[in-house]
Amino acid sequence: MQSLSYSKLFYGLAMLLVSLASSTSLFAQGGNLHEQSEVYVAPTDPLVQEKLKVWGDQKFGMLIHWGVYAVPGIIESWQLCSEPWLERPEGISYNDYKKWYWNLSSVFNPVNFDPDQWAEAAADAGMKYVVFTTKHHDGFNMFDTQQSDYKITNGPFKNHPKANVAKYVFEAFRDKDFMIGAYFSKPDWHNPDFWWDKYATPDRNVNYDIRKYPEKWKSFQDFTYNQISELMHDYGDIDILWLDGGWVRPRETVTDEVRAWGAPIPEFSQEIDMPRIAEMAREAQPGIIFADRTVHGPYENYQTPERKIPDTKLDNPWETCMTLGNNWGYVPNDNFKTSAKVIHSLVEVVAKGGNMLLGVGPQPDGLLPPDALPILAEIGDWLELNSEAIYGTHALDTYQDGNTWFTANDKETFAITLLEDGKEVPKSISWSGNLPKKGSTLRLVSTGQKLNYTLDGNTVSVQIPSEIRKNARAALAFSFKN
Ligand code: GLC
Repeated sequence: MQSLSYSKLFYGLAMLLVSLASSTSLFAQGGNLHEQSEVYVAPTDPLVQEKLKVWGDQKFGMLIHWGVYAVPGIIESWQLCSEPWLERPEGISYNDYKKWYWNLSSVFNPVNFDPDQWAEAAADAGMKYVVFTTKHHDGFNMFDTQQSDYKITNGPFKNHPKANVAKYVFEAFRDKDFMIGAYFSKPDWHNPDFWWDKYATPDRNVNYDIRKYPEKWKSFQDFTYNQISELMHDYGDIDILWLDGGWVRPRETVTDEVRAWGAPIPEFSQEIDMPRIAEMAREAQPGIIFADRTVHGPYENYQTPERKIPDTKLDNPWETCMTLGNNWGYVPNDNFKTSAKVIHSLVEVVAKGGNMLLGVGPQPDGLLPPDALPILAEIGDWLELNSEAIYGTHALDTYQDGNTWFTANDKETFAITLLEDGKEVPKSISWSGNLPKKGSTLRLVSTGQKLNYTLDGNTVSVQIPSEIRKNARAALAFSFKN
């Protein structure tokens, strides 16, 4: 009886949510964007500095959101939360909705799970690192944690040879020489030491007063420590611990930027004890990079502006995370950006000194959405031809002139001119700011072909031969000696 009514409810809701997903502003995510932080504390550990340098040279990574929310294809976790910015589905009480959501774990059976397909698509796109959701805010574990039964290894998928999903995702990407990042949500809405069923759950925060129940919070701190310890000890080499849920933080670190999210700020501290976690993690994974998002200080080794590119070049390490579609996780009929749009954003990010982490959500069956694949491949085609202008480069003081962006390595300077989709490539492209020295060679990066140019004061004009104009896509990169 129980399972019958659940499954009926499940299908009804799934349909409702799919239609909501494509039609409403539910996914604008107004209330939960993580802004870029303004204060940066550089790590002093030489191994961390070294790893940050390697990571900074990679430029482009894949952020994979995958969890029970892929089954109905809804925004990741957030529908469990009762904050006013979230549209609640009609016709179902909040409590019934939560029951339905928790029960998704009993139907999540991604029989086609193929992390090699993901890693191949990411490598084809020219990506060099991956960040995978080991656990999102809903608390559903995509790894075989011993701290909870709410996990992928405890449902219909448990007998699959790759049931311990995170382990196999990391292995598949490691096989392709990717750097490995573990996304981990500090809040855990499934854990009764975070959302205690004695009280209502009106918002994203812990729902009891930690000052009154310190032992309960201590038990949550230990749970978090133990989970992260499992990830740090049993899942091979991990390069990045990407900690989401920035509202779980010491109260004294709450800034205007956090208040601007619009979510309630409790009077007590939701201090997770990062020093203890960090010490354990660095012992298990020497040099690991922490991205304790938006919590400025020693555990935010790089900053993570979300769904936006900073207005100007930044000198500290940073990474813009943005979605390929409109959503982080899989949502049917999502609207994917074109490859040109992604390439343009990547060029801008790299010219401003950052990395880009592109979000892709695998389907509930375990494969990437087929429509994403050609877009990823096109991005990779461009990057393959223009790799020198992107990977291993650094930002210059003059990083932009109009639609031309500049990067450089030790030997060469690169000028990358973005081309507008569908518009004819001009016969001549000009920029100011970074110019070849008189008489030096200027080349098209994609072919190595020497191009003619003229210098006039602080402006260079490059002649673009017709065969290049015919074949050009997204952006043209030029190089010349520093
Ligand atoms: C936001 C969302 C979260 C998502 C993250 C990815 O913080 O709240 O759901 O995982 O962005 O960057």
